[in-house]
Amino acid sequence: MDTLVICGAKPLQGQVKVSGSKNATLPIMAASLLSTGEVTLSGVPELDDIAVMAEVLRILGAKVYRDHDTMVINASTINSIEVPENITRRMRASNLVMGALLARFAQARVAYPGGCAIGSRPMDLHLKGFRNLGYEIDEEYGIMEGKGGKIAGNEILLDFPSVGATENIMMAASLTPGVTIIRNAAREPEIVDLQNFLNRMGARIRGAGLDTIRIEGVKKLDGVEHSVIPDRIEAGTFMAAAAISRGDLWLDNVVPEHIQPLIAKLREIGVEISTWTSGIRIIGNDHLRPTDLKTMPYPGFPTDMQAQMMTLLATVSGTSVIVETIFENRFMHVQELRRMGADIKNEGRVAIVKGKKRLQGCKVEATDLRAGAALILAGLYAEGETTISRVEHIDRGYDKIHQKLLEIGADIVRV
Ligand code: UD1
Repeated sequence: MDTLVICGAKPLQGQVKVSGSKNATLPIMAASLLSTGEVTLSGVPELDDIAVMAEVLRILGAKVYRDHDTMVINASTINSIEVPENITRRMRASNLVMGALLARFAQARVAYPGGCAIGSRPMDLHLKGFRNLGYEIDEEYGIMEGKGGKIAGNEILLDFPSVGATENIMMAASLTPGVTIIRNAAREPEIVDLQNFLNRMGARIRGAGLDTIRIEGVKKLDGVEHSVIPDRIEAGTFMAAAAISRGDLWLDNVVPEHIQPLIAKLREIGVEISTWTSGIRIIGNDHLRPTDLKTMPYPGFPTDMQAQMMTLLATVSGTSVIVETIFENRFMHVQELRRMGADIKNEGRVAIVKGKKRLQGCKVEATDLRAGAALILAGLYAEGETTISRVEHIDRGYDKIHQKLLEIGADIVRV
C-alpha cells in the first residue's frame, strides 16, 4: 500500500487546475443508463470512485471507454439489472444506478451498501421515493429489489434533503409518466448539473438548486455530450492548503458561486480571497482568527470540508467550535490530528479546537477520504516529516493530488 511522505512548513505558491467534480460525475454516469444513445462526458476526473462506477456500468452490460478526461458510455447493450454486494460495499454511490435501472427496465436488484466509516447512511429516503412513484420495493437478504407496479408521477416529500435520494428520484422520475414533485430536495450544485445533463438528453426537469424540483416524465432520452462542473471540494481543499501554508495560490476551473460558504468562512478568519468568473486567488497569512462552524446541507458549510477546516483551525490561535450535523461519525481525523500535537476535544457531534502554533510531523492514517485530505494539510503545516498511510482513501476522491501539490512547491513523495 502506498504512503505519502510530506515535509511541511513551506508556503505553497502557484497555479492549480481543479479537476471535474467527482460527486457530479458519479450520478451523471448512472443517468447515462437512461438512454440507448451514446453519452460523451468531458472533465471526468481520474479517481478510484469513478473507476468503480465504470465497473458497475460494465457489470450491467454497458460499454465504457475513457481517454484522459473524456468518457464515452453506451448503455444500449445493458443485459443485467443487478449490482452485487462486492461492488456496492466498495462504493456507496453505486446505489445511484437503481433509479435509472427502474426507469428504463422497470426492474433493479442492488445490494444494500451497508454502513460506512462516517456513519450508518441508510437508503430509506431513496426507497420511499421509488415507492411513491409506484415501484414495488422489497428489502431482503441485504438486497433492494424493485419492480414496476402502477407507475406514475407523484409528490415526494424528503424528510431530509439527501443528495443521493434527490438524484436517484430525479433519474427514476424522468422516464415515469406524469409529473413528479420532490419537496425538501437537496440543492447542491451537483443536483443542478444532473438536471442540466438530463434536460440535454430530453428530460423535462426544473427547479434544481431550489428546494422543490418538478419532473415531467418523458418517453425516451437521447445520447448527449456534457462537460461536468469543477470539483468544489477539491477547490476548497486547495484553498485550505493556501491558507494553512500561509501561501499564495491561484485556482483555475472554479465556480466561485459553488464555494460561497467556504469563501465566507475563510474570509471571516482573515484569509485574503479574490474571485473572477472561473478562478480564485487565496493568500494566507499569520494573523488568522478562530471561528465556529456547523456543517449543513447546501448552501450551508459542506460536511466534505469539515475535516480540512478543522486542520486549518488547529493552527489558528484561539478556540473554534465545529459541529457536524450531517454524519454521525465524521470526526475520525481528530485522533490522528492529536497525534500531530493538535489540541482538539470532541464529544458526540461537537469538536472544540484550540489552535496551536506548532504541529509535529509523525505517522498517521487516512481513515476516510476527507480525513486523508485533512492529514495532508496538517503535514503541509507541521514541522518535520509526516507519513500518511491508507492513501487509497485519498485516491478515491482527489485527482493527482500528489503531482498538483509538487507543482506548487510542496515537499511530498509518494512511496
Ligand atoms: C453525498 C456526497 C457526499 C457528501 C454528502 C453530504 C456523493 C457521491 N456523495 O453523499 O460526498 O458528504 O452527499 O453532502 O455525492 N440519509 C438517510 N436516508 C437516506 C439517505 C441519506 O438517513 O435514504 C442520511 C445519511 O445517513 C446522512 C445524510 O442523510 O446522514 C446525508 O446523506 P446524503 O445527502 O444522502 O449523502 P450522500 O448522497 O450519500
